[in-house]
Amino acid sequence: MSRDSEAEIVNVSRRRMLIGTTAAMGAVGVVAALTPFVESWNPSARARADSAPVSQDISALEAGQMIVIEWQKKPIYVVRRTDDMLYNLSINDPILRDPESTESKQPDYAKNEYRSRDPHILVMVAVCTHLGCAPNYRPEIGVPELSTDWVGGFFCACHGSKYDLAGRVFQDVPAPRNMEIPKHKLVGNILTIGEDA
Ligand code: FES
Repeated sequence: MSRDSEAEIVNVSRRRMLIGTTAAMGAVGVVAALTPFVESWNPSARARADSAPVSQDISALEAGQMIVIEWQKKPIYVVRRTDDMLYNLSINDPILRDPESTESKQPDYAKNEYRSRDPHILVMVAVCTHLGCAPNYRPEIGVPELSTDWVGGFFCACHGSKYDLAGRVFQDVPAPRNMEIPKHKLVGNILTIGEDA
Protein backbone atom coordinates (compact mmCIF):
# COMPACT_ATOMS: atom_id res chain seq x y z
CA MET A 1 0.00 0.00 0.00
CA SER A 2 1.34 3.45 -0.87
CA ARG A 3 2.00 6.11 1.75
CA ASP A 4 -0.74 8.24 0.13
CA SER A 5 -3.25 5.43 0.52
CA GLU A 6 -2.23 4.91 4.13
CA ALA A 7 -2.65 8.61 4.83
CA GLU A 8 -6.11 8.58 3.29
CA ILE A 9 -7.18 5.63 5.39
CA VAL A 10 -6.06 7.53 8.48
CA ASN A 11 -8.06 10.56 7.37
CA VAL A 12 -11.13 8.47 6.72
CA SER A 13 -10.79 6.73 10.07
CA ARG A 14 -10.66 10.11 11.80
CA ARG A 15 -13.80 11.19 9.98
CA ARG A 16 -15.47 7.93 10.93
CA MET A 17 -14.69 8.55 14.58
CA LEU A 18 -16.28 11.97 14.33
CA ILE A 19 -19.54 10.50 13.16
CA GLY A 20 -19.45 7.59 15.56
CA THR A 21 -19.34 4.78 13.07
CA THR A 22 -16.99 1.87 12.65
CA ALA A 23 -16.98 0.71 9.07
CA ALA A 24 -13.95 1.22 6.86
CA MET A 25 -14.35 3.51 3.89
CA GLY A 26 -14.32 1.89 0.46
CA ALA A 27 -13.10 3.20 -2.84
CA VAL A 28 -9.97 4.58 -1.22
CA GLY A 29 -8.45 5.48 -4.53
CA VAL A 30 -11.49 7.43 -5.61
CA VAL A 31 -11.73 9.31 -2.35
CA ALA A 32 -8.00 9.96 -2.30
CA ALA A 33 -8.16 11.58 -5.70
CA LEU A 34 -10.70 14.03 -4.41
CA THR A 35 -9.31 14.73 -0.98
CA PRO A 36 -7.78 18.14 -1.80
CA PHE A 37 -11.08 19.16 -3.33
CA VAL A 38 -13.07 18.16 -0.25
CA GLU A 39 -10.59 19.42 2.31
CA SER A 40 -10.43 22.83 0.63
CA TRP A 41 -14.06 23.42 1.45
CA ASN A 42 -14.64 24.98 4.84
CA PRO A 43 -18.29 25.37 5.79
CA SER A 44 -19.12 28.15 8.18
CA ALA A 45 -18.94 27.59 11.91
CA ARG A 46 -22.69 27.96 12.04
CA ALA A 47 -23.17 25.26 9.43
CA ARG A 48 -20.94 22.93 11.43
CA ALA A 49 -22.72 23.67 14.65
CA ASP A 50 -26.33 23.25 13.69
CA SER A 51 -28.49 21.87 10.95
CA ALA A 52 -27.99 24.71 8.50
CA PRO A 53 -27.79 23.69 4.86
CA VAL A 54 -24.33 23.12 3.43
CA SER A 55 -23.30 23.84 -0.14
CA GLN A 56 -20.56 22.34 -2.26
CA ASP A 57 -19.32 23.02 -5.78
CA ILE A 58 -19.26 19.55 -7.36
CA SER A 59 -17.88 20.57 -10.73
CA ALA A 60 -14.65 18.61 -9.99
CA LEU A 61 -16.56 15.42 -9.27
CA GLU A 62 -15.97 13.13 -12.23
CA ALA A 63 -18.18 10.32 -13.54
CA GLY A 64 -18.05 7.34 -11.20
CA GLN A 65 -16.43 9.25 -8.35
CA MET A 66 -17.76 9.84 -4.86
CA ILE A 67 -17.15 12.57 -2.30
CA VAL A 68 -18.22 12.76 1.33
CA ILE A 69 -19.80 15.89 2.78
CA GLU A 70 -20.67 16.24 6.44
CA TRP A 71 -24.15 17.51 7.24
CA GLN A 72 -25.88 17.35 10.61
CA LYS A 73 -22.85 15.38 11.80
CA LYS A 74 -23.67 12.65 9.30
CA PRO A 75 -21.71 11.60 6.21
CA ILE A 76 -23.46 12.42 2.97
CA TYR A 77 -22.23 10.47 -0.02
CA VAL A 78 -22.40 12.25 -3.36
CA VAL A 79 -21.80 10.06 -6.40
CA ARG A 80 -21.76 11.18 -10.00
CA ARG A 81 -23.22 8.05 -11.57
CA THR A 82 -22.34 7.02 -15.08
CA ASP A 83 -24.87 6.02 -17.73
CA ASP A 84 -23.86 2.38 -17.18
CA MET A 85 -24.47 2.70 -13.45
CA LEU A 86 -27.96 4.04 -14.09
CA TYR A 87 -28.69 1.33 -16.63
CA ASN A 88 -27.58 -1.40 -14.22
CA LEU A 89 -29.84 -0.23 -11.40
CA SER A 90 -32.87 -2.07 -12.76
CA ILE A 91 -30.94 -5.36 -12.82
CA ASN A 92 -31.13 -5.49 -9.03
CA ASP A 93 -34.88 -4.93 -8.69
CA PRO A 94 -35.83 -8.62 -8.20
CA ILE A 95 -33.35 -9.05 -5.33
CA LEU A 96 -34.09 -5.80 -3.46
CA ARG A 97 -36.19 -5.56 -0.31
CA ASP A 98 -37.98 -2.34 -1.32
CA PRO A 99 -37.21 -1.53 -4.96
CA GLU A 100 -39.93 1.15 -5.16
CA SER A 101 -38.72 2.80 -1.95
CA THR A 102 -42.23 2.77 -0.51
CA GLU A 103 -40.95 2.22 3.06
CA SER A 104 -37.87 4.40 2.80
CA LYS A 105 -37.11 8.02 3.60
CA GLN A 106 -36.64 10.37 0.68
CA PRO A 107 -38.24 13.59 -0.56
CA ASP A 108 -41.07 13.14 -3.07
CA TYR A 109 -38.86 14.35 -5.91
CA ALA A 110 -36.44 11.51 -5.16
CA LYS A 111 -39.04 8.79 -5.03
CA ASN A 112 -38.22 7.46 -8.45
CA GLU A 113 -36.13 4.69 -9.97
CA TYR A 114 -32.91 6.67 -9.41
CA ARG A 115 -33.81 8.10 -5.97
CA SER A 116 -32.48 11.50 -7.00
CA ARG A 117 -33.39 14.83 -8.57
CA ASP A 118 -30.74 14.56 -11.26
CA PRO A 119 -30.39 10.87 -12.24
CA HIS A 120 -26.61 11.18 -12.46
CA ILE A 121 -26.17 12.73 -9.00
CA LEU A 122 -26.83 10.50 -6.00
CA VAL A 123 -27.05 12.37 -2.68
CA MET A 124 -27.50 9.96 0.21
CA VAL A 125 -27.19 9.81 3.99
CA ALA A 126 -24.48 7.18 4.30
CA VAL A 127 -25.78 5.57 7.47
CA CYS A 128 -26.62 1.88 7.30
CA THR A 129 -30.22 1.33 8.37
CA HIS A 130 -29.20 -1.65 10.50
CA LEU A 131 -27.02 -0.18 13.25
CA GLY A 132 -25.61 2.96 11.69
CA CYS A 133 -22.22 2.12 10.19
CA ALA A 134 -21.08 3.93 7.05
CA PRO A 135 -21.15 1.48 4.12
CA ASN A 136 -18.22 1.25 1.72
CA TYR A 137 -18.56 2.51 -1.84
CA ARG A 138 -18.03 -0.50 -4.13
CA PRO A 139 -18.69 0.64 -7.71
CA GLU A 140 -16.87 -2.28 -9.34
CA ILE A 141 -18.62 -4.87 -11.51
CA GLY A 142 -18.48 -8.51 -10.41
CA VAL A 143 -16.94 -8.55 -6.92
CA PRO A 144 -16.80 -12.28 -6.06
CA GLU A 145 -16.84 -11.79 -2.30
CA LEU A 146 -20.04 -9.75 -2.59
CA SER A 147 -21.81 -11.47 -5.46
CA THR A 148 -20.97 -12.80 -8.88
CA ASP A 149 -23.81 -10.61 -10.14
CA TRP A 150 -22.55 -7.50 -8.38
CA VAL A 151 -23.00 -4.41 -10.59
CA GLY A 152 -21.83 -1.81 -8.11
CA GLY A 153 -23.24 -0.53 -4.86
CA PHE A 154 -22.43 -0.09 -1.20
CA PHE A 155 -21.32 -2.74 1.25
CA CYS A 156 -21.62 -2.40 5.02
CA ALA A 157 -18.69 -4.28 6.53
CA CYS A 158 -20.17 -4.23 10.04
CA HIS A 159 -22.71 -7.01 9.48
CA GLY A 160 -22.78 -7.54 5.72
CA SER A 161 -25.66 -5.45 4.43
CA LYS A 162 -25.60 -4.63 0.73
CA TYR A 163 -27.16 -1.73 -1.14
CA ASP A 164 -27.28 -0.83 -4.80
CA LEU A 165 -26.04 2.44 -6.30
CA ALA A 166 -29.31 4.14 -5.35
CA GLY A 167 -28.94 3.10 -1.71
CA ARG A 168 -31.63 0.41 -2.03
CA VAL A 169 -31.07 -2.50 0.31
CA PHE A 170 -30.79 -6.10 -0.84
CA GLN A 171 -32.95 -8.92 0.48
CA ASP A 172 -31.61 -11.30 3.15
CA VAL A 173 -29.29 -8.82 4.86
CA PRO A 174 -29.61 -7.27 8.34
CA ALA A 175 -30.51 -3.74 7.19
CA PRO A 176 -34.29 -3.27 7.05
CA ARG A 177 -34.62 -0.22 4.79
CA ASN A 178 -33.02 1.70 1.97
CA MET A 179 -30.62 4.42 3.03
CA GLU A 180 -32.11 7.88 3.43
CA ILE A 181 -32.04 10.55 0.73
CA PRO A 182 -31.83 14.03 2.31
CA LYS A 183 -33.55 17.04 0.87
CA HIS A 184 -31.22 18.79 -1.52
CA LYS A 185 -31.05 20.95 -4.60
CA LEU A 186 -28.63 21.42 -7.45
CA VAL A 187 -28.21 24.79 -9.13
CA GLY A 188 -25.63 24.49 -11.85
CA ASN A 189 -22.72 22.77 -10.11
CA ILE A 190 -23.64 23.98 -6.64
CA LEU A 191 -25.15 21.23 -4.55
CA THR A 192 -26.99 22.28 -1.39
CA ILE A 193 -27.90 19.67 1.20
CA GLY A 194 -30.63 20.36 3.72
CA GLU A 195 -32.60 22.73 1.51
CA ASP A 196 -34.63 22.06 -1.59
CA ALA A 197 -36.47 25.25 -2.50
S1 FES B 1 -24.65 -1.63 10.67
FE1 FES B 1 -24.64 -2.12 8.54
S2 FES B 1 -25.05 -4.21 8.50
FE2 FES B 1 -25.12 -3.75 10.61
